[in-house]
Amino acid sequence: MDKLCVTGNGPLRGAVRVSGAKNAALPILCSSLLVKAPVTFTNVPQLNDTRTIVRLLNQMGVTAARTETHRIEIDASTLAKPVAEYDLVKTMRASVLVLGPLVARWGEARVSLPGGCAIGQRPVDQHLKGLEAMGAEVTLDGGYINARAPGGRLKGARIVMDMVTVTGTENIMMAATLADGVTVIENAAREPEVVDLANCLIAMGANIKGAGTDSITITGVEDLHTATYRVMPDRIEAGTFACAVAAVGGEITLLDAPVASMEAILDKLRDAGCSISINGTSITIARKGPLKAVSVKTAPYPAFPTDMQAQLMAMNVVAEGTAVMTENIFENRMMHVSELSRLGANIEVTGNTAVVQGVASLKGANVMATDLRASASLVIAGLCASGTTMIDRIYHLDRGYEHIEDKLIGLGATIERIST
Ligand code: EPU
Repeated sequence: MDKLCVTGNGPLRGAVRVSGAKNAALPILCSSLLVKAPVTFTNVPQLNDTRTIVRLLNQMGVTAARTETHRIEIDASTLAKPVAEYDLVKTMRASVLVLGPLVARWGEARVSLPGGCAIGQRPVDQHLKGLEAMGAEVTLDGGYINARAPGGRLKGARIVMDMVTVTGTENIMMAATLADGVTVIENAAREPEVVDLANCLIAMGANIKGAGTDSITITGVEDLHTATYRVMPDRIEAGTFACAVAAVGGEITLLDAPVASMEAILDKLRDAGCSISINGTSITIARKGPLKAVSVKTAPYPAFPTDMQAQLMAMNVVAEGTAVMTENIFENRMMHVSELSRLGANIEVTGNTAVVQGVASLKGANVMATDLRASASLVIAGLCASGTTMIDRIYHLDRGYEHIEDKLIGLGATIERIST
């Protein structure tokens, strides 16, 4: 199992290109199941999660392959069985994103239930409720979701989501593109990745209005067609590098950044004492003076994202003052706290709130990654610590960050991957 050895050695400097967004790429790759023709996606990050989706599609008989570093070509016309097996779904919950497209295009699907997750229970009841409202017959047996569209076609419906769910909105939006009639998703997720998926579906011929608002209207069409679509850049990867330079100091430029979608993150970094300048799709972040602790409450977009909570906490750990950080999306997304404490952080957790009292310095130690964003927070803290921090279980990191150590080395960090 690979480990990362991080040695703190001062400010970060230079430029780094932001990769394609994991959480846009995953639904977009699944959208290929709606089309009985070849589709091409570019700017697809090389991650374990995007590899898992390709394997999942291959298992169904779909022709899917990475033809260039960031290009994936998929032809779902070869689909043999609309089944997502447990062995892959258990490694990546986002596999459930094949459910909507399979039922909509192929009339049926059998998809393993994703099961529990380190950061929370994460049920998929809203995905199933939406499909049922569209006329799907849904049953659960042996740990699998079985869904069938009577007559082979779903029907448009008005669906009010009980809570804002990103992949729930995406699953229903994809399913609705080929349904008979009009579907309206109320209380829809407004995340930029939902908008990117909608733009991809529109490029394939879908009729979607309102993506990016909390009410999305989809008018079903007979068929979708072939398209080439470029995945948006990753606001969370960009935000992670931004938190790193805020914590460690220095000046970096993020190239090809999704500037418009990063407002909440950049506002927090300005409050922390960073200077931020934007030039087209480049963002330069500099932190030369003292770093101030910033409080935050996570919430659905456009508020501060849960996927940045751990990284901002790593920054707060070495800031002046006290930050109160409240996690409102997932019930167990504070597992990085005990690992950050091993490096010398002063954090108290009560329920879903962490009170972070900034410390003057951290000291390297052995730590363990518990989930994707927790791993990123440990990398940031390791960069701030004196001596060496050895991060175990970085397979979590490899699910969602493309070549993170190479990118950080390019910014002057000392990081080594140790394969055992
Ligand atoms: N929820 C339900 N029922 C449902 C769906 C969601 O109760 O049917 C609850 C969840 O348990 C959670 C809340 O609603 O408490 C929001 O969850 P959501 O469905 O929005 O999360 P998701 O779609 O499973 C996506 C991202 C996550 C990100 C969340 C929140 C993808 C592939 N994953 O997950 O990304 O944290 O939205 O923004 O898009 C990550 O990249 O590290 C990551 C975990």
